[in-house]
Amino acid sequence: MSAFYREKVLSVQHWTDTLFSFRATRDSGFRFQNGQFAMIGLEVDGRPLLRAYSMASANHEEELEFFSIKVQDGPLTSKLQKIREGDTILVGRKATGTLITDNLIPGKRLMLLSTGTGLAPFASLIKDPEVYDRYDQIVLVHGCRQVSELAYGEELVAKLHDDELFGPMLSEKLSYYPTVTREPFRNRGRITDLITSNQLFSDLHQGPLDIETDRIMMCGSPAMLEELKQLFETRGFKEGSGNTPGHFVIEKAFVER
Ligand code: A2P
Repeated sequence: MSAFYREKVLSVQHWTDTLFSFRATRDSGFRFQNGQFAMIGLEVDGRPLLRAYSMASANHEEELEFFSIKVQDGPLTSKLQKIREGDTILVGRKATGTLITDNLIPGKRLMLLSTGTGLAPFASLIKDPEVYDRYDQIVLVHGCRQVSELAYGEELVAKLHDDELFGPMLSEKLSYYPTVTREPFRNRGRITDLITSNQLFSDLHQGPLDIETDRIMMCGSPAMLEELKQLFETRGFKEGSGNTPGHFVIEKAFVER
């Protein structure tokens, strides 16, 4: 048995010069937990060329979805950005990852902190009805340099709001907070600064960070992940893993090229 499923590309959407998303068929045997990633890629010169990609689709969906950067000289993404409907991609059989709710101690508010394509695992998690059962509030923060990079997330949230099943859950529990660092926008600044200054919480009309109730998942810029980890640890938050649930979890597997 091959280590990969061979899946057909169903659609590709280009969001900016540096971002695209695509949907593909999903083998009925491919199981994952929302928030996890798998090795994804192409066969190049007869060999698999793969990178870790979070599933942006939820595990109840029939198709797979991925959200990717494009790097002109990136070994995989320079090729992957050219895929078209009908092309074949490789999907590793085993999904894994730390951004799963079982790795967190029970809490009341779930904060999903992302930059760039680090949004992908949270795109999956906000389509998980169990997440809405477990938490009273869900805060989805997406930080980008430019407004145009927010489009994928904006559309995702707008579509879910219009969904018969998810619309009411989102209206009751989800706060979406896009923020931009390098041009004017209604929310401005780095996620680290927005948390330390409490700007995020005052903009959302919610209480400040509270170790008793807040649980955090983060994915994105490695520099941001490092700073956030320190920021939370200084306040007593503990990192969780498969063996020991904690107050926060970090996804380090991340395609940069
Ligand atoms: P900034 O524009 O101030 O660098 P990148 O494209 O470099 O991965 O960055 C994506 C987003 O993450 C940008 O808005 C960037 O802000 C922000 N960012 C980069 N490094 C950090 C960090 N150490 N802490 C918080 N945010 C960061």
